[in-house]
Amino acid sequence: MLDLVFTAMFAVVPVMLASIYLAKYKQRFQLHKQIQVALGIVLLVAVAAFEIDMRMNGWHHLAEPSPYWQDGSWNDWVDYGLAVHLFFAIPTPFLWGYVIVQAMRKFPNPPQPNEYSRAHRFWARIAAIEMTLTAFTGVVFYWLAFVA
Ligand code: HEM
Repeated sequence: MLDLVFTAMFAVVPVMLASIYLAKYKQRFQLHKQIQVALGIVLLVAVAAFEIDMRMNGWHHLAEPSPYWQDGSWNDWVDYGLAVHLFFAIPTPFLWGYVIVQAMRKFPNPPQPNEYSRAHRFWARIAAIEMTLTAFTGVVFYWLAFVA
């Protein structure tokens, strides 16, 4: 499950960037909407599956062979890596939910720029940056805990 979430996170960022490119340079707003909503669903399913797996199986036993892991709490790079990752990861689904729900409510269907554009660009950029940092710090944590 960890590997699956890792791969999903890794794939979400380039697809998201392509979707932003489509909105910004190609005016393909409907396609942008469809991709972003699909990514939102992938994110939701990944988070749910991941949480269930972590609570049922845990992950410490998988990190024990890592040179960055020490028994006890908050004394090693694995834990620091996780703290930094969670700092970005926890707000991300909320930001995405907010951006998607507001965009669906305030843009016409099919979507076109309107008076909501400024606010969407502001919040959507923050959501996109959060997602990128979540994925990047997730990769660092994954490497510290399970690869090194
Ligand atoms: C989390 C989900 C989303 C993210 C991260 C996102 C990201 C972005 C970004 C960064 C831009 C600005 C591009 C630029 O710099 O010009 C943009 C533009 C736009 N997005 Fe989204 N978007 C999301 C969801 C949606 C949804 C669900 C809709 C439609 C219901 C939508 C409709 C639009 C439209 C119409 C524009 C053009 C606004 C304008 O420039 O006037 N977006 N999006």
